[in-house]
Amino acid sequence: MKILEAGLLALVVWSAVGTSEAQIRGGFAPALTCAALGAPRGADPDLYCIDLLPAAGFDRATGTARLVPAPSPFGVAVSPAGEHLYDIVFDVRGLPEPTSLGPFATYVAWATTPQLHPTVKLGEVRNGLVRLGRVAFDQFLIFVSAEASGRVIERTGRLALRGASASMRMQPHDLAFILSGLLAQRGAPSAEHRHEPVEKDAKAPGSWTPPSMHPQVTMPPELMSLRPGVSPYLPAEDAAIPLARPRELLRLADGDALTLVAARVRRVLFGRTVTMLGFNGQYPGPLIQVDEGSTIAVRFTNRTDFPTAVHWHGVRLDNRFDGVPHVTQDPVPPGGSFEYRVQFRDAGIYWYHPHHREDILQDLGLYGNLLVRSRDAGFFTPANREAVLMLDDLLVNETGQVEYGLEATTHALMGRFGNALLVNGEPRWETDVRRGDVVRFFLTNVSSTRVFNLSFQGAARVKLVASDLSRYEREQWVENVTIAPAERYVIDVRFSEPGDVTLINRVRAIDHIFARFFDETSPLGTVHVSANPAAPDHGATFDRLRTNADVVAAVDRYRPGFDRPADRELMITLAPGELPFPLRPLLSFESVYRNPVEWSGTMPEMDWIATGRSVRWILRDPATGRENMDIDWRFRVGDVVKLRLLNDRNALHAMQHPIHIHGQRFLVLSVNGMPTENLVWKDTMLLPTGFVAEVLLEVSNPGKWMLHCHVSEHIETGMRMVFEVEP
Ligand code: C2O
Ligand code: CU
Ligand code: CU
Repeated sequence: MKILEAGLLALVVWSAVGTSEAQIRGGFAPALTCAALGAPRGADPDLYCIDLLPAAGFDRATGTARLVPAPSPFGVAVSPAGEHLYDIVFDVRGLPEPTSLGPFATYVAWATTPQLHPTVKLGEVRNGLVRLGRVAFDQFLIFVSAEASGRVIERTGRLALRGASASMRMQPHDLAFILSGLLAQRGAPSAEHRHEPVEKDAKAPGSWTPPSMHPQVTMPPELMSLRPGVSPYLPAEDAAIPLARPRELLRLADGDALTLVAARVRRVLFGRTVTMLGFNGQYPGPLIQVDEGSTIAVRFTNRTDFPTAVHWHGVRLDNRFDGVPHVTQDPVPPGGSFEYRVQFRDAGIYWYHPHHREDILQDLGLYGNLLVRSRDAGFFTPANREAVLMLDDLLVNETGQVEYGLEATTHALMGRFGNALLVNGEPRWETDVRRGDVVRFFLTNVSSTRVFNLSFQGAARVKLVASDLSRYEREQWVENVTIAPAERYVIDVRFSEPGDVTLINRVRAIDHIFARFFDETSPLGTVHVSANPAAPDHGATFDRLRTNADVVAAVDRYRPGFDRPADRELMITLAPGELPFPLRPLLSFESVYRNPVEWSGTMPEMDWIATGRSVRWILRDPATGRENMDIDWRFRVGDVVKLRLLNDRNALHAMQHPIHIHGQRFLVLSVNGMPTENLVWKDTMLLPTGFVAEVLLEVSNPGKWMLHCHVSEHIETGMRMVFEVEP
């Protein structure tokens, strides 16, 4: 309740700014408009605010309907079907007394689709602020009508105000126009002529095999002749390379040592043999299990074609072992080695991956989990089994893999969406459980850019327990789990009925050419539930939602500072450079609307051709105007820094960014001005398009640490910075 009030208060302050501006302009009935609101605190008004226009006879009525994300433990609220969920805050002025219009007693707000079916009744509105919910439509209209009673179930009264969501502005592209431009330019030199030194150890290029079209989105065949302006790269094939083995569990004790070799492996995937990469010949890399508080030594040997280093994602270790080339260590050249000492301060699920050319090395299979066991036996409630799942996608076509960019990354705008989803490196995952078993899932998203929206089809109840660096303040029931690249979530799932339960990824994809949303459902795995009853049966414990008093206490230390103004700000944007034709016209057509999250790569051939030679993604500090590696932030151990992150909706290609901070932990305090209801310590958070988030960074670990976007193609094209923490 308190949280809701604080949120509404923020909105009141926001509205007050807009009104006073309008009043200065004069006029007896100042119009409330989204544009006048600006975005001092909330989300981008162009995407997340609807102007309400008066119907005939309501000339003095005016208002706005702001879309606020429904509360969610994932930073973005979507249904299991992938629709974004919004509450709507109405701010309405100038509605006449309903009784003065005829047989009416009140005003009611409605939401409906462009087809006007179905219609959802949102609730009663009056002059002033009212928060109503919930809307789960891709595109929608809002109506406010005078009605005989607040209990009406259908809109029959007189229409007073109406408005349309930003997504209604999407229009089919004029493909003929774009293509005529393309044909005129045929034979013209590539837009990208800049040449950068080739990674000297990498193998000589072969030729490109373009990605396949999305099965549900038709592109003109002329566009298929485009190629990225870099050389194609795939690891060289060799029949002597061993076939990869599934990952092994490695239990390591404090002080143990491990050798980790990154090298080529062969995999049989989708009926053909492909050459990929693996740690110790395994896919994923070995699952390393350690106790909280222990330290292990890892001798890493690089047998890939690129210099790189291994990063221990989320682990608050000694800075010199953080594995960031040129920041914490020299890159390990092909054939070279480096010795890491990895200390585990926090129980939970973490992962390791290369920190240079992730777009190639990580995508080809270099990733593994670290499972850190708590010393506290009651850290998690009891479960019958555990499943540690790494979620990934791979871009394949008729001939096998789509090549990577040698000199610079391909897919520099959207990131490389794969068209084949993988769980633990396999197209299909399955397991057997007993009826009533509680299974603890440790989920890690290791894909380059895809945000997954996971759910179980069949009898399964899902309890959200933990994320990156801690458990939640409070366990909660969820229907689906939204997980961005590099994030982790821990869920307990109880399978109460015999039969098969399918783990699916379900999202709303956009066909930008025909301006339509469509369903994309992909099965990821199956849980076979037998009729044998679980033993022991943890049903009773499972049914209770726990409050984690130690997490609440750790957060309480910082709660008094939650509302103070931000200390630092970062604006997230893009310098698109000289893009290959016809990307620029396509992008400007698309930019009339941006979904909060791009859930799928529906234009694989367009995404593919933008390279790191022209695209530069940007983190900008508005206080100094500095960008990316030129930003020079300094903190001290013990500092508590409030960061404000803004995702620029006006960038030519605006999209979501999973923001990751090395070596520390943080809390996401608010999203679009709405306070987070259930806090958890994070190292990576999803920032949807046009969103504003406030983050509390606990500065606890000295050294030079990176903050970056975890889309591989974005970190490769500039979207990273370093801050220094003095002891
Ligand atoms: Cu998982 Cu800097 O990365
Ligand atoms: Cu990291
Ligand atoms: Cu990004």
